[in-house]
Amino acid sequence: MELNCYSQAQLTAFYEECQKQYSAFQAENLKLDMSRGKPSPKQLDLSADLLNCVSNDDMTSEAGDCRNYGGFDGIPEAKKLFAPMLGVEPDEIFMFGNASLQAMYFTISYAFTHGIMGNTPWGKLDKVKFLCPVPGYDRHFRITEFFGVEMINIPTDENGPDMDLVEKYVSEDEAVKGIWCVPQYSNPSGIVYSDEVVKRFAGLKPLAKDFRIFWDNAYCVHHLCDNPRVILPILEECRKAGNEDMVYEFASTSKVTFSGAGVSLLATSKANLADLKKGLTCFTISFDKVNQIRHVKFFDGKFENVLAHMEKHRALLEPKFNCVLEMLNQEIRPLGIGEWTEPKGGYFVSFNAPQGTAKRIVQLCKDAGVVLTGAGAAFPYGKDPEDRNIRIAPSYPEVDELKKAMELFVLCVKMASAEKLLNA
Ligand SMILES: Cc1ncc(COP(=O)(O)O)c(C=O)c1O
Repeated sequence: MELNCYSQAQLTAFYEECQKQYSAFQAENLKLDMSRGKPSPKQLDLSADLLNCVSNDDMTSEAGDCRNYGGFDGIPEAKKLFAPMLGVEPDEIFMFGNASLQAMYFTISYAFTHGIMGNTPWGKLDKVKFLCPVPGYDRHFRITEFFGVEMINIPTDENGPDMDLVEKYVSEDEAVKGIWCVPQYSNPSGIVYSDEVVKRFAGLKPLAKDFRIFWDNAYCVHHLCDNPRVILPILEECRKAGNEDMVYEFASTSKVTFSGAGVSLLATSKANLADLKKGLTCFTISFDKVNQIRHVKFFDGKFENVLAHMEKHRALLEPKFNCVLEMLNQEIRPLGIGEWTEPKGGYFVSFNAPQGTAKRIVQLCKDAGVVLTGAGAAFPYGKDPEDRNIRIAPSYPEVDELKKAMELFVLCVKMASAEKLLNA
């Protein structure tokens, strides 16, 4: 029976039983952190050979000695290795450092201080607006909030953002300068943009000449299923639509090799690259080419080896996702007190609790020793208008710990839902 069909007496008994179980959890002194989508130590161990796959004799790349200055936009071998990952040409790639967030921050910062392709720097405009498909990635929203951008929530469904709304904003408002997108296995919902959505993105007719799509393809090879659906290559689609300068695409090996010490890249049109390089050339002489060649050697220069490596991640991650989904199906579905996504890849399960309970659930979990991502984090300004969304990040804990954490989580969902009904 669904919880909202319980009588007052049944609800009270249900809540008292939950409280008893909750006290037992508190007595266990749990200490689990599920706040970020971090790879587990076992996942990091999959790439241990990165640390010894090169020697001093391997430092010569097509761009020269990796230990030295030079090779500004990255070694050609690395660009060739990662080009198929994004369906782009190697010469559309600029290799960044260990974090694609640096590349995202750089592009926004450049637009603010110098302007994209000779357009007025955004910092000199009265208003700059960004479209933010929600729920989305908190660190994207943090960057635009930091620069004072007005962020506009765009609802998403299983095919991607509401494109009617995106087209309307982009074609009617010159202050709309960008949109954040995680097109493959979105953080946190795990959705994959449909071909129609990607084509509609490529065919946008922005009023602002310097409108850019910030296409963060962080999870492009992070499948948790056989025969995964892979999104259309956005650069090519934009080119076909005559919009080749409209997109900056980002990716990294943060969740392929080492989260703290991978390589990242920006892929975009040659004209955009030439523009951005005016700033980048002042920013660095080159990013870490030793790490780039290390990645090339580790994967023997072959993209298929990257995919094979990702299968090893899948073997470690899949049981964890299954644990989360089984628990939700068993404990929450019969009570009708939540909805969630069943992602085919990526790092998260997005859970929607009854309206007005997400903060309470996160607090209850925290008070019993399990830290989750803050409620609201997946929305601009950290404000979930319905206080419903919670991001579940199953990657870091081992399955037995995760099971414990999920037992507590479902209990807290039950408690918060019962409290809401009892107080209605
Ligand atoms: C969508 C998305 N983009 C980027 C990142 C961070 O990437 P990087 O480590 O390359 O900065 C994450 C990490 O969680 C993410 O979820």
